[in-house]
Formats: sequence, C-alpha cells, structure tokens
Amino acid sequence: MKQDKKTIFFCKECGYESSKWSGFCPVCKAPNSFVEAPSAPSGRKGGLSPASFADRAVPVRLEDITAEQAERYHTGSAELDRVLGGGLLPGSLVLTGGDPGIGKSTLLLQVCRNLAHSGQKVLYVSGEESLKQLKLRADRLGKFDGDISFLCETDLDRILSLMQEEKPQVIVIDSIQTMYTPQAASAPGSVTQVRECTNLILNTAKGLNISVFIVGHVTKDGTVAGPKILEHMVDTVLYFEGDRHASYRILRGVKNRFGASGEIAVFEMRSEGLKEIPNPSAYMLSGRPENASGSVISCVMEGTRPLLLEVQALITRSNYGQGRRTATGADYNRVALLLAVLEKRLSVTLSDCDAFVNITGGLRVNDPALDLAMVLALYSSFRNVTVPDDVMVFGEVGLAGEVRSVPLAKERVQEAARLGFTTCVLPKSSLSAELNARGMKLIGVANIEEAVLVL
Ligand code: TYD
Ligand code: MG
Repeated sequence: MKQDKKTIFFCKECGYESSKWSGFCPVCKAPNSFVEAPSAPSGRKGGLSPASFADRAVPVRLEDITAEQAERYHTGSAELDRVLGGGLLPGSLVLTGGDPGIGKSTLLLQVCRNLAHSGQKVLYVSGEESLKQLKLRADRLGKFDGDISFLCETDLDRILSLMQEEKPQVIVIDSIQTMYTPQAASAPGSVTQVRECTNLILNTAKGLNISVFIVGHVTKDGTVAGPKILEHMVDTVLYFEGDRHASYRILRGVKNRFGASGEIAVFEMRSEGLKEIPNPSAYMLSGRPENASGSVISCVMEGTRPLLLEVQALITRSNYGQGRRTATGADYNRVALLLAVLEKRLSVTLSDCDAFVNITGGLRVNDPALDLAMVLALYSSFRNVTVPDDVMVFGEVGLAGEVRSVPLAKERVQEAARLGFTTCVLPKSSLSAELNARGMKLIGVANIEEAVLVL
C-alpha cells in the first residue's frame, strides 16, 4: 500500500494544522508550538466507522426525534456531578487534563470505585502504571466492590476489542499519550497518535454507549501532544488546576455539551485520596491575616457559584528606579492597567514602586469584578491602612476610574452574608432593593475616589 508521506504541522497548544512550519501559531499566538507529524495513512482498517452505528443517516424533523433523558450515573461526588452537568451521561466522552502528579489518576480511580459500588460495570485501563502500582493506590482509597476490573495495556486495538467483548458501562483510559495504534504511523504521544486513538475510542464508545474518561497530560513544552488538540472531539473537558505542592485542587469544566461549562469543584488531596470541599469560600478564606494592609476580600463567579477569595497587594519602594509588577493568579496586564488608573485618578506616584498582586488559594481569576478589590488592596498597601475584616468588595473599574456594575450582584452579596461579612462595597449602579440581604450594609460607589474615601 502506498502511504501518503506529506508532512503536516500542528500547534500543540490549540491544534491548528498547517502544511508549513511556523515560529509561532497564527491562531493562538503560542511561540514555538509547532510540532511535525506525518499525516495518517489514508484508508482505515478496523474500528467502527461513524456510519456503522447510525445506519445510513436520513434527515429528520425535530418533532420526530424522540430523545428520552438518559439517566445519568452518579460519580459519588456531588461536586464532580455538578461540574459534569448532573452526573455522567452514558456514552459521553470526558477529557480530564492537568499537570502530571496533580491527581487525575487518583480522582478517576475514586470515581470508578464509586461507580462500581453503585452497580456499573467499570474497566480501568492504565498505560502508565503496573497492576501492582494500581493496587497500592487503590489500597489507599479504601475498599473496592462491584464489577470493576483493571488492565495494563497500551495497544489500543486490544482495548477496543475488549470494549466490544466486555461492554463495560464506563471505561477510563489513563493516559491517552501512552496509547498506540498501528493505524497511525508515528510514535505514541505524538499528535497523530493521540488524535487517531481518540477518534477510534470515540467511534467505538458511541456505538456501544460506553462512557469514557480520557486522561491527558498538559505539557507546556516537550514532544508529547497536549490535550488541547482533543478538546473539540470530546463532549466534556475538565481541567485540574492548583498548586501541586498545596493540598487543594480545583477541577474546572472548560467545555460541556451536556451542561453548563465554567463550573468548578474544589478538592483536597489527603493521604486517603481526594476529598471534596463543599464550602470552598470558607476554605479559601481560612488562614487570612488579621488587620494586615493590602488584603481585601472579593467575590468572583465560577460558573453559577459565587466564591469569596482574598486579594493581596504589596507595594514597596523599588531599589532600581523602574518599578517591577508581578501578578499571581490575576491577569498581569489588568494589574498594570489598574495601577495606571490608580496613579492618574488618585494622584499617587507608583512608577518607582514595586507592586505585587496575589490571589490566594492558587486560583487563576479573570472576573472583572475583582478590579475594585485589587485597586483597594493596592491603595491599602501603599498608604499602609487596613481594610476592615468584615468588608467584601466587588466591581469592575474602568479607565476613567469609574466603578461599573457586574452581573449577579445578588449572589455575591448573599455569599458574603452567608460567611458572616457585614459590609459590602459595590458599584452604585448595582444597588437595588432586592440586594438587601440579611442586614448587610451596602455601600454603593461610583468611582475609585469614593471607594477609598469610604474606607
Ligand atoms: P496522581 O493521581 O498519580 O496524579 P496524575 O495521575 O495526575 O499524574 O496523583 C499523584 C499525587 O497524589 C502523588 O504525588 C501522591 C498524591 N496522593 C496523595 O496525596 N494521596 C493519595 O491517596 C493518593 C492516591 C495520591
Ligand atoms: Mg496518572
């Protein structure tokens, strides 16, 4: 058989395909992200083609489609169920990404244990660990019962035929970068292999109504293909975030065809596995300093959930004329912009100061509602005055120093009231009668001058 030898290039960050190599990706602008991959030989052998489970498609009208709501499997974690959109849908493909060592295998093993316990037939395929290692991990998590079996295999054809013979209801592929199919002519972990393997799994799983969890390592560099290229192929994408060295982990739903995306679940890594944290706001605020300048509490929306967190800022005189700016957890450019607004509108000189902004808890936040808290934290550190402990602050700050309204003010105020805050500083335009929750003192501000006066 003559093989097509044409070389194609992929951006390993966003999956953009090109016939020419380029120093940076024209779509996601990532530098040096192009990797070479020989195109897969044309003509598939084996596997179920999409047509074989849809027997010759004909167009139908919407009213003729009967779609009974399939019963979802419950993963045993209410938080994970919420991120998945109310449980795991039979036949759906879930990609779980994250840095190595963050806890993907642990989470999925726990999910398998719970699913098997509630009566599902589960197959856990590991291409990374031996059966002995799996056993050691499983022993830490507790007792396993029900119909669950383990397989150490990297040959995808063997896994696909097992899926057809055994017909498990749920299967875990850990990880996709270790899987190999002879149908793609490159090494395991390459873009072509990862895409081809996912495609074959997808076709077989959809045909047999098997739910699949695919583990993918996120790699910023190196030769292994990142899971970004798979995002468009799967139904749901979950990413594990958080500091590997701290104990909490945040699981974020980045894409969900069967539920809201952007939901998060917070877990804590214990010696006996991951434990969900049902009240993350309280968790995020634990250990905050008392009466310290530069610390302000704000509220961001993560999906449908309000989350309180602490914004910390530190301003010090720079030793080198030109001040440095550092942002951890917040957008760097946003911090630079807010510093400029602060300098212009409040007539303070910051250009010769070093400024550091940190969102505690290891979260990465993009919610503009955090602006006002960052401004107040910076100002508080600069003037060395403290913001009272029971004050929560939110609002977007514009270039003119105006404080603009943000969506879901009521949810934010309610969350603050629930955690014992007594005062809220918020955009004047967000004030409304329905906000008056449980004796909370609401202070509406129109611009940052008013905000600093209030404090
Ligand atoms: P793991 O699930 O192997 O990460 P990944 O599959 O994403 O690479 O998690 C590995 C880390 O978690 C490892 O450093 C050990 C730690 N861990 C615990 O702290 N408690 C536990 O019960 C388990 C199983 C792992
Ligand atoms: Mg693992």
